Amino acid sequence: MLGQHAEMRATIARATELIGRVRAGEPVRLALQETLGALADAAHAHNAREEELLRDIIPTVDAWGPARATVMDEQHTLEHQALHAALEAGVRDGDASCDAAEGLLARMLRHMEREEEAVLSEEVLRDDSVITHYFGG
Ligand SMILES: [Fe+2]
Ligand SMILES: [Fe+2]
Repeated sequence: MLGQHAEMRATIARATELIGRVRAGEPVRLALQETLGALADAAHAHNAREEELLRDIIPTVDAWGPARATVMDEQHTLEHQALHAALEAGVRDGDASCDAAEGLLARMLRHMEREEEAVLSEEVLRDDSVITHYFGG
């Protein structure tokens, strides 16, 4: 899961670079749309896996603390849906503003940071080989 986060961060970095070039007047808008499209696909697959994983594993772990509240939260799934809808809308709209795309990328980065903090700060998760395996892989 963290490996997928790393891949998404690389794609976000590429999109951020392209936003800068679009602003500078370079003809890279299509490349930006394609990059956002790739990010939408990667996030969709990742989020589906993440939701499935959390559903499967949480009932087997007794001692979840703050992580449980953070990652199990219905808000988490809603945030996935909101991010994905915004990303798809940005991809469809060839003239989507650079500001909007930039805000969305920042929101995705914050989402990943929050879930990494929640998961990695949880002792029980570090001690559990199954969860460590999933989130580390
Ligand atoms: Fe998430
Ligand atoms: Fe995630």
